[in-house]
Amino acid sequence: MYHVLGIESSCDETAASVIAFADDAQPTVLSNIVYTQHKEHLDYGGVVPEIAARAHVDKIEPIVSEALKEAGVKLTDIDGFAATCGPGLLGGLLVGVSYAKTLASTMGKPYIGVNHLEGHALTCRLTNNVPFPYLLLLVSGGHCQFIHVSGVGEYETIGGTLDDAVGEAFDKVAKLLKLGYPGGPAVEKLAEKGNPKAFKLPIPLKNKGIDFSFSGLKTATRQLIQEQGDHMSQQTLADLCASFQETVAQTLEVKTKRALQQLKQTKHFVLSGGVAANKILCGRLKKVCAAENIEFTAPPTPLCTDNGVMIAYAGGVRLLAGESHPLDSNATPRLPLETMNKPDNKEIK
Ligand code: KG4
Ligand code: ZN
Repeated sequence: MYHVLGIESSCDETAASVIAFADDAQPTVLSNIVYTQHKEHLDYGGVVPEIAARAHVDKIEPIVSEALKEAGVKLTDIDGFAATCGPGLLGGLLVGVSYAKTLASTMGKPYIGVNHLEGHALTCRLTNNVPFPYLLLLVSGGHCQFIHVSGVGEYETIGGTLDDAVGEAFDKVAKLLKLGYPGGPAVEKLAEKGNPKAFKLPIPLKNKGIDFSFSGLKTATRQLIQEQGDHMSQQTLADLCASFQETVAQTLEVKTKRALQQLKQTKHFVLSGGVAANKILCGRLKKVCAAENIEFTAPPTPLCTDNGVMIAYAGGVRLLAGESHPLDSNATPRLPLETMNKPDNKEIK
């Protein structure tokens, strides 16, 4: 048994998890503890980097202790320490990276810095044992990319957003409607009571390629909101949320269908990242996949939004392949997935 502690602190979640890797079995998640800083950022309609970093400092020790306790292991049982080293907000990344490196150093065990996007990209292998290769649509607050995943460290971005990420568009619309942060869950909830056909919004780059653009949709939604004036009824509010979500759904449908047709050899499609928590979007993309004879997978919601499990898993996979990072390695706010190396050891689970 090889125990890995994973720490995530790249944005507004302080999270930790312990995973046990066995020789011939799927790894077991022994704990998954997440503290989400919603109340800290509520008044600002978005994440404030300095506030986030301070909250990570406050929470990192109790969250890691809880993760060890829930897993029923002691610090001395941990064989490797993993932390998100990028991309993300520098202050938060530094908290997690410094903590993991300190533990690794004092316990005399290896440390590995994990690319947050690789965490999202590989989660489906832990939860659903999805085989390589697969087409990944990574949809989060900061990313919106089609990535062809052919192995650990083998990532090819084939399309992505030219401006805002999908989650960012949800968050901005929610901010305009004064629904608080994060916007995605609030918009999805209100949309349940709304008419998705009430307002017509543009589908950006509808007839062009597999890149996305959400800034035009955001502007069109803003204009629509302004036209409604200050005293919008609850029904109009719900109709606006439903119409916006419907337009995002149609956009993802069109682009996913095109991307799948482009990558003929891929038989698996994976939706990952915070926005994959949206049941309507998941359902719609599942149907697109069924029509194209492609298997659809989205990890369980708590593992779609940011968590420590994905970091412990991606870190563990690399540690077991013989990789580790020096204790003077740093956190990096910008860290594209393509810059990741392919581990030397081929026998990767
Ligand atoms: O992956 P994640 O937790 O953090 C980043 O790496 O960005 O994603 C957070 C994003 C936020 O923009 C949030 O509004 C969005 O995911 N999100 C959703 C839903 N739940 C979270 N968007 C739409 N519908 C949801 N149910
Ligand atoms: Zn994320």
